[in-house]
Amino acid sequence: MEQLINMSSKTQYYLELEEQYSAHNYHPIPVVLDRGEGVFVWDVDGKKYYDFLSGYSALNQGHCHPRILKAFVEQSQKLTLTSRAFHSDLLGEYAKYITDYFGYDKVLPMNTGVEAVETAIKLCRKWAYQVKGIEEGRATIIVCEGNFHGRTSTVISFSSDEASKKNFGPYMPGFEMIPYNDINALALALTNKNVAGFLVEPIQGEAGVVVPGSGYLKKAKQLCEEANVLFMADEIQTGLARTGKMLACDHEEVRPDILLLGKALSGGMLPVSAVLCDDEIMLTIRSGEHGSTYGGNPLACKVAMASLQVLKDEKMADNAEAMGNLLRSELNKLRSPHISIVRGKGLLNAIVVQHHTKEAAWDLCLELKENGLLAKPTHGDKIRFAPPLIITKEHILDCIEIINRSLTCLD
Ligand SMILES: Cc1ncc(COP(=O)(O)O)c(C=O)c1O
Repeated sequence: MEQLINMSSKTQYYLELEEQYSAHNYHPIPVVLDRGEGVFVWDVDGKKYYDFLSGYSALNQGHCHPRILKAFVEQSQKLTLTSRAFHSDLLGEYAKYITDYFGYDKVLPMNTGVEAVETAIKLCRKWAYQVKGIEEGRATIIVCEGNFHGRTSTVISFSSDEASKKNFGPYMPGFEMIPYNDINALALALTNKNVAGFLVEPIQGEAGVVVPGSGYLKKAKQLCEEANVLFMADEIQTGLARTGKMLACDHEEVRPDILLLGKALSGGMLPVSAVLCDDEIMLTIRSGEHGSTYGGNPLACKVAMASLQVLKDEKMADNAEAMGNLLRSELNKLRSPHISIVRGKGLLNAIVVQHHTKEAAWDLCLELKENGLLAKPTHGDKIRFAPPLIITKEHILDCIEIINRSLTCLD
């Protein structure tokens, strides 16, 4: 167990409990939280922090948003689950609401993000065999290097991250990997007649907020259309106002054939994900061919509608755009020798830490924690800065001061 110095006995107690009884599949920052409100969280000793991760963008609306919480509490006292064996009075209402909201014929409701990805893969393959006419079992889906789409055995099969894959084989076939942000590589891959779909993150979040060149998504969509290939946008992390538009694809006026949503679809209340597409694709899946016990449950439906409505009513995309610009310009103004790159869109941002020690990004996160800001490194030297979208100018300037002070730990 590391770094127990400087920790209260209460914090140590919780860390040790987790260490002993919970699987070691994560390496969290050593802080134990027991309360959240808006952009803030509190640890078990009552210390207050800015949350600069937002549950990997599940908390776009902020912690315990009062309107989402109200929907959650009211519905949880009424009806939480019917399974899909019976109807609820909310699934139809929610389906109408979310399809109107994003402009698609239909929605398929699931729970976690990776289930949305699995669903999209199944829909894409079904469409390939039943509509496009690819020979059964031959459909290929193009994916990008550096992708992160979740953790199931199928999805890690097309990961380029060694740690996600090693010793979890055999892997699922049917995926071809090309470099991200490389339109020529996509054009070449699309010459294969068995290609059914292109699965892409409009910005690669887990890879360290890798923003593709302007025009990439638009051109990629156009090439997919020409090749009769489905353009599938995984907006699980980039969507729902995070990047300054409702969808990151909106920046280039691209309408995905299959749209994947998750995370902030419930404002951090419970796992809710969704796949949206038009009838030509969605109606290839029939009764008994796909589903989930919790998918489309009435609690999720009610909470998702509240979560989406709040994003619009509180103009969170506009705030993400304005506060993102402020955050990046203030970070650049610091001119820190320890920050080699500041990048991002809206409030999905990252810095690349430059230092001679390998643990510098981790050490900086520990110092940020000491100074009241929580963030987590990704892929060694990158730190994502992605606070809830309700953050204000005063908060951002306060956080810049914290970041500036913390960077001195690397001097
Ligand atoms: C782009 C993207 N897709 C899929 C997922 C998987 O979502 P979940 O962890 O809810 O399964 C994530 C999670 O970080 C993600 O960032």
